[in-house]
Amino acid sequence: MRRRPVAAGGAGRARYAAARVGDVDLFSPLRLRTGASASNRIALAPMTNEQSHDDGTLGDEELAWLCSRAEGGFGTIITCAAHVTRDGQGWPGELGVFDDMHVPGLTRLAGALRERGALGLMQIFHGGVRADAAVTGELPWGPSAAPGVRAATPADLERVIAAFAAAAARVQRAGLPGVEIHGAHGYLLTQFLSREQNQRDDEYGGDLPGRARLLREVTRAVRAATDARFTVVVRLSPEDFGNARGLDLDESLQLARWLADDGMDALHLSLWRAGLPTRKRPDTFAVPAFRAVLPADVAMFVAGAIWTREEAEQQLARGADAVAIGRAAIVNPRWPLQLREPGFVPRRPPVTLAELRAMGLGPRFAQGMRRWKDFVREEP
Ligand SMILES: Cc1cc2nc3c(=O)[nH]c(=O)nc-3n(C[C@H](O)[C@H](O)[C@H](O)COP(=O)(O)O)c2cc1C
Repeated sequence: MRRRPVAAGGAGRARYAAARVGDVDLFSPLRLRTGASASNRIALAPMTNEQSHDDGTLGDEELAWLCSRAEGGFGTIITCAAHVTRDGQGWPGELGVFDDMHVPGLTRLAGALRERGALGLMQIFHGGVRADAAVTGELPWGPSAAPGVRAATPADLERVIAAFAAAAARVQRAGLPGVEIHGAHGYLLTQFLSREQNQRDDEYGGDLPGRARLLREVTRAVRAATDARFTVVVRLSPEDFGNARGLDLDESLQLARWLADDGMDALHLSLWRAGLPTRKRPDTFAVPAFRAVLPADVAMFVAGAIWTREEAEQQLARGADAVAIGRAAIVNPRWPLQLREPGFVPRRPPVTLAELRAMGLGPRFAQGMRRWKDFVREEP
């Protein structure tokens, strides 16, 4: 029997104003308005691991990685960014979702996560100007022309919107309960949002409604291509960080409101340092600011340097419904389970390649972690 959709977190804005650390139990179920639910408020953050095949079909090591974290107690498992068109691929070995040939692998993934009691969400994306020409064999494109990059034509945009929708429909067909549209970190959708990168003078550029148009049309198309019980999450970088440039907190707040109108079931804030206040308003944290503008039944995930139970609970007290864990989940495969053990102190990098392998990372993923500053301790 299907459960009736319930409000995210079971309460509205008033709860958040009054919440204190510990009020919302990290280990209580997360219920989304689509009817989907997770066993706790802890998600594995999406992490590129380069462990799939050249054609984008699911690799065994990618599957094993995701399963290991489901077994470690992560209630929600979000896949790495998976490209929705061939020309959107960002790295070799990236999971793909641009063709029906990907569905059998995703069906295996859906079954494996279901068996392990995790809610599986597939992150879908297009690299835009950051697509890897060496992998795609094509000139990357984005909102505006730049050295080595061409400007998107109306046909490109029509094609990519349809590709996001088709990808989400494939994910649904494979039996995964939802997708996360990657609107963060400076890939195609962020490039269009960016005041710096988007210099277009057509309806996909200019003021915020123009720059937000592509992400909004993608969200609506994904919503229209899937049924009401399928969960649609959107990940955003609310302010500039790293490759995400030309973003503004107030514009991002307005965008979040619009995305809720467009059918977004949950927002995923990628903050990198969730414990810090916003840059624009140092007296404000992003989580309560977004909570205040979102409808009560739209849930919120937050990620960014969450290592301890206290740090996770602080985000819930500020109004997040769930935390997403990246690097701590790499070096603590059973982080959610261990968090309940009194005196648990999470492992922190640096770790050796051999340790990463023992933590369930295949050789490519482990090697790839060398690109992250101070993560891998080189053995003599
Ligand atoms: C190895 C690695 C790969 C990542 N790949 C992705 C990705 O594919 N999509 C995405 O949205 N974020 C990606 N991220 C960012 C994480 O999802 C997360 O937001 C970030 O690492 C901050 O959380 P943390 O401090 O808990 O690691 C990646 C992070 C790491 C460490």
